[in-house]
Amino acid sequence: MHAQFNVPSTIIVAGGASQQLAAQAVRLGGRRALLVTDATMVATGLAARCAEQLVAANIPTTIFSDVQPDPTDRNVAAGLALLRREKCDLVIGLGGGSPMDAAKVIAVAATNDAPLRDFAGYHRIPKPGLPLVLIPTTAGTGSEVTKAAVITDTEREVKMMMLDAHLLANVALVDFELSLTMPASLTAHVGVDTLTHGIEAFVSRKANALTDPLAEQCIRLTAGNLLTAWAEPGNRPAREAMMLAACLGGMAFANSSVCLVHGMSRPIGAIFHLAHGLSNALLLPEITRWSLRGAVARYAQVARGVGAAPADAPDESAAAALPAYLETLNARLGIGRLRDFIKADATVFGQKLPAMAEAALASGSPQNNPVVPSADEIIDLYRKVW
Ligand SMILES: NC(=O)c1ccc[n+]([C@@H]2O[C@H](COP(=O)([O-])OP(=O)(O)OC[C@H]3O[C@@H](n4cnc5c(N)ncnc54)[C@H](O)[C@@H]3O)[C@@H](O)[C@H]2O)c1
Ligand SMILES: [Fe+2]
Repeated sequence: MHAQFNVPSTIIVAGGASQQLAAQAVRLGGRRALLVTDATMVATGLAARCAEQLVAANIPTTIFSDVQPDPTDRNVAAGLALLRREKCDLVIGLGGGSPMDAAKVIAVAATNDAPLRDFAGYHRIPKPGLPLVLIPTTAGTGSEVTKAAVITDTEREVKMMMLDAHLLANVALVDFELSLTMPASLTAHVGVDTLTHGIEAFVSRKANALTDPLAEQCIRLTAGNLLTAWAEPGNRPAREAMMLAACLGGMAFANSSVCLVHGMSRPIGAIFHLAHGLSNALLLPEITRWSLRGAVARYAQVARGVGAAPADAPDESAAAALPAYLETLNARLGIGRLRDFIKADATVFGQKLPAMAEAALASGSPQNNPVVPSADEIIDLYRKVW
């Protein structure tokens, strides 16, 4: 076996965990904080409540709220400039994957003087970043516990995947109460992202004994709670289970890998600006159908975990039931076909496909898939999900 496992040294999972922000900031020795977040968190007052906690602990705090969904190199540059101007020595990321990823990269950009492009890929960040606390409000990307960040290179229209242990938070505060305000469509999109993390971590060529139990529990919790959280936003047990599933899924995929779904999803996000979870969801059933033959026993285990096949079903028939289960889940969550969400016609989509297939392969994720596709096969798969 070969396994390397990196997670934050402190992960606190509890309703109300975000109220421990100031205590954790003090423990990390922070003297001036940059709170990286987005406009929604300012509008709901959550950003101000976090800042007040820090100020009460004698940590003056500057709020940077210009992170857009699917954060860009420009968002990171603006946040870094503010951090330098205000002489901050501690970074807090508050929000969904977008503010958390921006916070991670701002924290390492503060100590590594290099263009962001140099950080793209695996283990390309030379020095540790500033101390970092992450607080997720979606359930979710799991970014609070991962050593990954995704930042769009605006010039090249590419989502740069960065993976390095220096991107890990020192502290993750996982507080499901912050997710209670998610509207139904967001709950659906980020929830299928979580399920995709669990499934891809489990079927990946890099799956290992440390990540398997986390991935399986992520899958079971998501299957058991996503529809309830979607239908009943105030259902606390379902929200709590989904927040935990997202955290487990993050630990699993970051120490195994994501595969073809994420590989093909990033180019859709970079070019057509679809939300990350939504583009994953649109791909997941068809990519699963195509990949089954590479890992029948593993997909069978996933199918049993979500309840798509009985516990005693043979591998072949259990695995074969999974794509239809995923299609039904999408349908119940109101997730249709790719063409319903892209503001471009089939011709424009077709013209972009060769570059999208190339970007998917360049990310490295498809190479971990149970069946490794060629560029032409990726193009065919994009056409199938259109
Ligand atoms: N680093 C990683 O390990 C990792 C893993 C998966 C995805 N990602 C990245 O994460 C990003 C997507 O993150 P996301 O899906 O969490 O969405 P997001 O952070 O982009 O947020 C989407 C929208 O939801 C709003 N929102 C967030 N929390 C809310 C709440 N509690 N109530 C109401 N509205 C809320 C935000 O303000 C925003 O408008 C993508 O850029 C993706 O590439 C990173
Ligand atoms: Fe994801």
